[in-house]
Amino acid sequence: MGSSLLVSTVAKRLEGKVALITGGFGGLGAATAKLFLQHGAKVVIADINRGDHHSLPVGDGMSFVHCDVTRESHVQSAVDEAVSKHGKLDIMFNNAGILDRVSRDIADCSQADFEHVLRVNVAGVFLGTKHAARAMRRGGGGGAIINTASVCGVVGGVATHAYTSSKYAVVGLTRNASVELGRYGIRVNCVSPFVFPSRISRSLLGRAEEDPMDDVKLHLMGKKLEPEDVAEAVVYLASDESRCVNGHNLIVDGGFTITNSAFTIFD
Ligand SMILES: NC(=O)c1ccc[n+]([C@@H]2O[C@H](COP(=O)([O-])OP(=O)(O)OC[C@H]3O[C@@H](n4cnc5c(N)ncnc54)[C@H](O)[C@@H]3O)[C@@H](O)[C@H]2O)c1
Repeated sequence: MGSSLLVSTVAKRLEGKVALITGGFGGLGAATAKLFLQHGAKVVIADINRGDHHSLPVGDGMSFVHCDVTRESHVQSAVDEAVSKHGKLDIMFNNAGILDRVSRDIADCSQADFEHVLRVNVAGVFLGTKHAARAMRRGGGGGAIINTASVCGVVGGVATHAYTSSKYAVVGLTRNASVELGRYGIRVNCVSPFVFPSRISRSLLGRAEEDPMDDVKLHLMGKKLEPEDVAEAVVYLASDESRCVNGHNLIVDGGFTITNSAFTIFD
């Protein structure tokens, strides 16, 4: 066996797998879709619109289904389309998410905005988990469900009340579902990223599209987080390399959540 064949076999960590990604045309969704494809997976993108990443190579192992994750019939159809197109579903990446208007006064926050964020960020993940689990159980080969939470589901004060509440809920739902679904060989985990450049973070930070966000640094060695860094964590949780990892919250934040920068001996 030539070494190049060995390398390509080892490098393709999702060969033969079928993945559905919600919010797949957004920053993290598109980075993950590209990486999944490179690792040999067939990818179905489910998004409410084609967003900034309409340049994704749709057609070559990648397809698109219109889906509003707050509508159960849409989520059900997206899962069914992935199964009818590729014969099974191995990986569900519940990643679609929104942020409400940033306000520093709870008196200015509306119930409607609060509930809308919870509908997309929490009910959307619930519906994706429910229908992916249905398809995976029917397939009989187990599966990997990965949800996008956030550092806002680990510490307070980083984003709005609605968004923070929603991400804590995603971590809770991940843990609960992992207990139920683990017995079918379906692992449920989540990733919790720090700030990376995307539409959501620009609106959180009040930045314009062209702003490079260079001043948003990770605690660790001054590195800046990119969606591709988070996508690598998602590939791990989607691959068989994490076959014994279940109910885990994989925090990708360069150490942001484990230190209190107001008091440290390592200035
Ligand atoms: N950008 C960050 O700093 C950051 C940090 C931590 C977590 N996150 C999370 O990462 C995930 C991806 O966000 P992103 O930063 O890539 O932002 P993004 O806005 O680029 O992507 C979000 C995607 O979700 C889609 N979407 C929104 N509502 C939807 C709905 N109802 N149905 C289907 N799709 C819908 C959007 O069209 C978009 O393509 C989100 O869950 C977000 O909360 C982002």
